[in-house]
Amino acid sequence: MIDGKKGLTVLGIETSCDETGVAVFCPERGLLAHRLHSQIPVHAEHGGVVPELASRDHIRYLVPLVRAVLQDAALSQPDAVAYTAGPGLMGALMVGASTGRAMAAGWRVPAIEVHHLEGHLLAPMLDHPELKPPFLALLVSGGHTLLIDVARMGAYEILGESRDDAVGEAFDKTAKILGLPYPGGRFLADLATRGDPDRFSFPIPMIQHEGLDFSFSGLKTYVRNVLAQLAPTEQDKADVARAFEEAAIKSLVIKVRRALDRTGYRTLVVAGGVSANLRLRASLQKLGRERCVEVYFPRQEFCTDNGAMIAYAGYYRLVAGDTAPLVVAPKPRWPISALQPMNGDVLPSE
Ligand code: KG4
Ligand code: ZN
Repeated sequence: MIDGKKGLTVLGIETSCDETGVAVFCPERGLLAHRLHSQIPVHAEHGGVVPELASRDHIRYLVPLVRAVLQDAALSQPDAVAYTAGPGLMGALMVGASTGRAMAAGWRVPAIEVHHLEGHLLAPMLDHPELKPPFLALLVSGGHTLLIDVARMGAYEILGESRDDAVGEAFDKTAKILGLPYPGGRFLADLATRGDPDRFSFPIPMIQHEGLDFSFSGLKTYVRNVLAQLAPTEQDKADVARAFEEAAIKSLVIKVRRALDRTGYRTLVVAGGVSANLRLRASLQKLGRERCVEVYFPRQEFCTDNGAMIAYAGYYRLVAGDTAPLVVAPKPRWPISALQPMNGDVLPSE
């Protein structure tokens, strides 16, 4: 096992979807460098991510980004290479996995397969070293809506999940219905700020349902039906966006409250692309104040996909002794609950 407390450097590579992210993390000195290349212009004209174009773009930008990040960090090479091994788009994952594996072999350093969602989940710890399990996590991204009981580092029990669309997916699809460009979520949130909160009240999904699961596809259909009756003006669209956002957030907040009651945890971690949403952040902060629960988010730029979270999670997996075998085997489908708890004392002692 590697002693991670001495100040090694981990290169993190993220290529699971439509962002090429690269970073270097050092436990002693923090994040040494990070860069992101967004593929928004590549996919915008198609209205969504085109997997083949994503893979080609990762190939084009990954190596130059690694060079630039190592230069920023004043390193000739890192002590380990962590890459996203799944879940995500197979072709896109293959680029990061094969490049990361090859670089690690060339430098004769360990390679680490990182679970993309574990990266998201641990990202708030980058800026909050005091944050430690056990905690409740709400992971809200384009592909996942999960309530997770994090008993200790790497031990993830799913308490609730979406039965259909992920919440980020619902934001994106609803944005498309409203005629907003890709990637829709943040454009919808922007439009909602101009909406009248008292004009519409949309049904809150799964509110009657006892458990901790979510459902967002009905909300999207509701939006389509409301718009079909309106011949909507810009103000109508903003009012609809506001009502959609309100209902989606209320559904998340209600389930988080229930999960906090059930687990008794005093710490809540919110991560994934949708955790960038300001109204969601404010609503969960308010819930935290009401329940005396500490609420943690990633810094705004690390809510959506990035290399920093992969370097960071990779560091912990390295210290736990979880290095990758000498194969390139990305896992497009890989439930976070299948991960092994991290062995040993990976967190610094107080
Ligand atoms: O974590 P992420 O970058 O990629 C996945 O792992 O899926 O999350 C992307 C998702 C997209 O659905 C995007 O629309 C959503 O996060 N998103 C937002 C906001 N910013 C990004 N949704 C709502 N409000 C935002 N401000
Ligand atoms: Zn993500």
